[in-house]
Amino acid sequence: MFNKQCISDITVRNQNVLVRVDYNVPIKDGVITDDLRIRASLPTIELLEKKGARRIILISHLGRPKGQKVPELSLAPVAEKLKKLLPERKVFFVSDVAGPDVEDAVESLPVGGILLLENLRFFPGEEENSTDFAREIAESTHADLFVQDGFAVVHRAHASTSAITSELPSVAGLLLEKEVTALTSVMNNPEHPFIVVIGGAKVDDKQPLIDKFAKIADKIAVGGKIAADGYTSPLDNVYVAEDFREGKMDIGPVSSDKICKMCQEAKTVLWNGLLGAAETPEYAISSTDLAKTLGSTPNLTSVICGGDTTGFVENLQKKEPNLQYSLISTGGGAALELLSGVELPGIAALEDK
Ligand code: 3PG
Repeated sequence: MFNKQCISDITVRNQNVLVRVDYNVPIKDGVITDDLRIRASLPTIELLEKKGARRIILISHLGRPKGQKVPELSLAPVAEKLKKLLPERKVFFVSDVAGPDVEDAVESLPVGGILLLENLRFFPGEEENSTDFAREIAESTHADLFVQDGFAVVHRAHASTSAITSELPSVAGLLLEKEVTALTSVMNNPEHPFIVVIGGAKVDDKQPLIDKFAKIADKIAVGGKIAADGYTSPLDNVYVAEDFREGKMDIGPVSSDKICKMCQEAKTVLWNGLLGAAETPEYAISSTDLAKTLGSTPNLTSVICGGDTTGFVENLQKKEPNLQYSLISTGGGAALELLSGVELPGIAALEDK
């Protein structure tokens, strides 16, 4: 159960609401190539508007500019994308996060307007979790309330996830509530048979997940580079892919069929990590088969997490919109840490129910 206050529990009428979103999206030559995180932020923005928030001020990071202003990591293209996604709303962008330009932009924002501030990580105070930096943002935006909706960044203790909560009353947004509820119910209350499919390349990232879920899941299936590199487990309920396609860049048909069959017979599946080097179509066969299986098996709770996996599934879903999943998580590291049982500072800091 989600035990933090959420925007659905409180009054926001006439308030200036500062919303931490995660717009850390891939941008190539100025074009956003995956807008899942932007689309996922819209329900909170829409609910705040419906509940009569006076102004909505959005803050986010993009990339890792390490306290420097890096023009390619400006959030300006994201503001343009937001304008397209919210054609009826007034969306503005200001190229700072605090100070006179932000104050002016906030004061001239029409009632119900949305203002996106510049990349928080252009300023060292963000990653230093600086109270002064958080206070400057809160004061410049004349915020009455802070809403944490950047699920993908709540594993970081930064000014916009941690220090800011000492400056303003702080509650969760709808995306945060939805993701945490779905992921914790997979951990705490999964319907069985429960299968966890793990792929990807970095065994160190995935081992805590395997350790945790070996005790909860009926079966853990391991594919991807981890399996190709010879992963072994002493546990009876861990299945490691047994055959591979040429060059070991994808798991082979025997393993792929076994994993898909396990999932077809399951009631809950958690999938994290691609089963092959799926950026190359010839090595995307097993990941495609699994994505199709999960998206088309009736009465299955399917939770997809990890940036590469969710991007892959979303692309497939664009071509085959009939594929449906219970949750395509926006969180990469945050989802992994939550699922491994780590307390996330950006959630812990919010007000309890
Ligand atoms: C992510 O993409 O996982 C989040 O936006 C966090 O980004 P970070 O790993 O650079 O902190």
